[in-house]
Amino acid sequence: MVATKRDYRTANEYVATLEEKDGLSVEQLMDSNTRGGLTYNDFLILPGYVGFSSVDVGLKTKLTKKITLQTPFVSSPMDTVTEAEMAIQMALLGGIGTIHHNCSAEEQAAMVRKVKTYENGFINSPVVVTPTTTIGEVRAMKEELGFSGFPVTQDGKFPGKLLGLVTSRDVQFIEDESIPVSEIMTKEPVTAKQGLTLEQGNEILKKTKKGKLLIIDGDNNLVSMISRTDLMKNQNYPLASKSATTKQLLCGAAIGTLPADRARLTMMVEAGLDVVTIDSSQGNSQYQIEMLRWIKETYPDLEVIAGNVVTREQAANLIANGCDGLRIGMGSGSICITQEVMACGRPQATAVYNVCKFANEFGVPCMADGGVQNIGHIIKALALGASTVMMGGMLAGTTESPGDYFFRDGKRLKVYRGMGSIDAMQQTGKSGNASTSRYFSEGDKVLVAQGVSGAVVDKGSVNKFIPYLFNGLQHSCQDIGVESIDALRENVNSGNVRFEFRTAAAQLEGGINNMHSYEKRLHN
Ligand code: IMP
Repeated sequence: MVATKRDYRTANEYVATLEEKDGLSVEQLMDSNTRGGLTYNDFLILPGYVGFSSVDVGLKTKLTKKITLQTPFVSSPMDTVTEAEMAIQMALLGGIGTIHHNCSAEEQAAMVRKVKTYENGFINSPVVVTPTTTIGEVRAMKEELGFSGFPVTQDGKFPGKLLGLVTSRDVQFIEDESIPVSEIMTKEPVTAKQGLTLEQGNEILKKTKKGKLLIIDGDNNLVSMISRTDLMKNQNYPLASKSATTKQLLCGAAIGTLPADRARLTMMVEAGLDVVTIDSSQGNSQYQIEMLRWIKETYPDLEVIAGNVVTREQAANLIANGCDGLRIGMGSGSICITQEVMACGRPQATAVYNVCKFANEFGVPCMADGGVQNIGHIIKALALGASTVMMGGMLAGTTESPGDYFFRDGKRLKVYRGMGSIDAMQQTGKSGNASTSRYFSEGDKVLVAQGVSGAVVDKGSVNKFIPYLFNGLQHSCQDIGVESIDALRENVNSGNVRFEFRTAAAQLEGGINNMHSYEKRLHN
């Protein structure tokens, strides 16, 4: 039958009469009976209508039942990804860091404390000297550290009783290098009382035209300082994840399910921890459930993310025992060999879709953990029902990730390793090894690796990388035609946002083709 030619002006009316929209609904896409388990690369989201600017797209989302973030970015509790520096920067940029536990409980609690006491623009661990430090030593410190203003405290410790300040001007024209700083230091430097805001501090620096403002407590102990050289560098962080009451940055950390982890958690709660992740590659265990119950009884206000899970049944056990969030993924991590070795796991898109569909009905936000390699993977995880994404490899190799850079084959690299790699499992902290406990291997004589250890290329600072991810997500939402993560979820559920399955050839087509050579620069 020859189709009748329609009046083009009725195109909108006509499309509205069609029973189904173009493409697949999420249920049709994720039907495992027809297609098996899917990964992020197996499908695309169809574009919608662009009726707003990308800067108007908000990415507010829930990390747990009680914690809302302005961005969906979470850093993974891995010892090559998240320590205090990463956690501070992630929180400043609107996400949250999860401090790893492959270290002693004291070290982990100290990192949590560092995040909680961080104040943007304030130098919270200034290098100080004693009154007996010599001018020669001050010059050597300037040479080594690159800055020249050192507060002088009574015993040369920080925090400590403030006696003065020595700067390069004080030592400039003195030839005798053996003179102690007590003789030449400025004895009444500009100080301000703890509690002032960065803006107030900056104003004082501008008015006094001094280089350093020393912050003291009621007993004249130096507690931090602000430096004029940082004035121009201090950024605003409008999306920062902060506690509504204390205004401190939010901080997450991971623990295992061993008895010693209870004492570890207590120390971190005392340091101000906001959310704990019970870190296990297979979360549906008696150990995890006991730990979860104990935490909820002992610290009812502490938010608990349980996991990892990839099925509804695993999730149900943890939801029933009171978790405030779920972490989804088994075998999808970039350094992971779990699926190969254990034969257990699930393709990540299918795992995220099935667990989120179930957990969201109980009001439990889900985090898609592992396998995120680009912005497209993040928006796909969110479209499948996740509220946040946890990243390891994406954030490894940044300035803020632990470890030193090294050069190999002309490239600047940092180590990135799985917590189930032999390397990580053999590193023993004072309170046991987090990696072995994550894989229930603490009693093993022969370790069975579930991850690899390797290197990733220098990615620069997350200060640039996270805003790149943020802008990318805003543009992606704009293409899809949704103005927020909530709107994305609603429109996927109502069948308005549509999907397409990608054949192997379609995946090839979506890559770069027929180029003689090219450079893949992701952002400026
Ligand atoms: P990525 O973001 O793809 O690099 O994956 C990071 C995630 O992989 C982490 O958040 C963990 O859930 C998981 N993971 C970490 N170490 C290992 C390992 O050694 N084996 C398997 N999975 C791991």
